[in-house]
Amino acid sequence: MPIPAPNLYPAFNIVRLSHVELVVSDLAKSRAFYVDTLGLQVTDEDRETIYLRAMEERGHHCLVLRRGDTPCARDLGFKVYDEDHLEKAAQFFTEKSLPVEWVDRPFQSRTFRTRDPHGIPLEFYARMDRLAPIHQQYALYKGVKPLRIDHFNVFSPNVDESVAFYNDLGFRVTEYTEDEASGRLWAAWTHRKGGVHDIAFTNGTGPRLHHTAFWVPTPLNIIDLLDLMSTTGWVDNIERGPGRHGISNAFFLYIRDPDGHRIEIYCSDYQTVDPDLEPIKWDLKDPQRQTLWGAPAPRSWFEEGSLFEGQAPVPAQLDAQPIIAP
Ligand SMILES: [Fe+2]
Repeated sequence: MPIPAPNLYPAFNIVRLSHVELVVSDLAKSRAFYVDTLGLQVTDEDRETIYLRAMEERGHHCLVLRRGDTPCARDLGFKVYDEDHLEKAAQFFTEKSLPVEWVDRPFQSRTFRTRDPHGIPLEFYARMDRLAPIHQQYALYKGVKPLRIDHFNVFSPNVDESVAFYNDLGFRVTEYTEDEASGRLWAAWTHRKGGVHDIAFTNGTGPRLHHTAFWVPTPLNIIDLLDLMSTTGWVDNIERGPGRHGISNAFFLYIRDPDGHRIEIYCSDYQTVDPDLEPIKWDLKDPQRQTLWGAPAPRSWFEEGSLFEGQAPVPAQLDAQPIIAP
């Protein structure tokens, strides 16, 4: 089996993924996409930045949009258990000879940024400003009714290495795709919070951010979003789906924001809290892996992604072809 045994007692406790910052070229256009169309809630904004949260979230932000000339993804944010675990996290990265830089982040307590061994920018913090609950303010629900951020998916030039590193951080593999010919990992889904994943890795030129996913109440909300996007000028931003994934069993839709950042709308995966949960293995050539109903993903889905700020990607080391739509 190509995946490591789970590390049930990591050096520090990551609670879950928390937020991401995307650099966008036109804040007004991005606001029309994320707020007016998807229905995320603005928690703070000025001429340069928009902070957003989803309907269930009490923390101040799950997505930060920052205006910039070169669209890219900045730090992937993770919440740790408390300040003690934050110190242990900083020590962990220092001992791995990875950069640790303490930074001021509005609405967050002490935060440090670092990079994983492939150069993905990460940030860790323990506490974010808490806001009043809005999950029962139904008049505020708009668009696809996004409830919470669910996961990141990144292109990795070496998925085996990514899984080994994040396994060290306590991320547990729930499902994985093996390239039968080489016996190496082509993709893996790893979690902290008890869903199928907080972060997944896909073989490809990387590191790059493949997508950020938001959980929504039901598949019907995804159908409603498709009707909305297709009649309000966003039809070209629909990339793949709707469908049901083989991996994760989730209902999904992939859309692209005005700068091409990919967003997944996602619901109904399953609980994974058991420490002895057996990972599910998939063959790269199984047509039901990507979509249970058999439809393959388009080429753009395998090739396009957001660059991470300050990190040039490198080609994937594993040359194995998934099934691509003609
Ligand atoms: Fe996803």
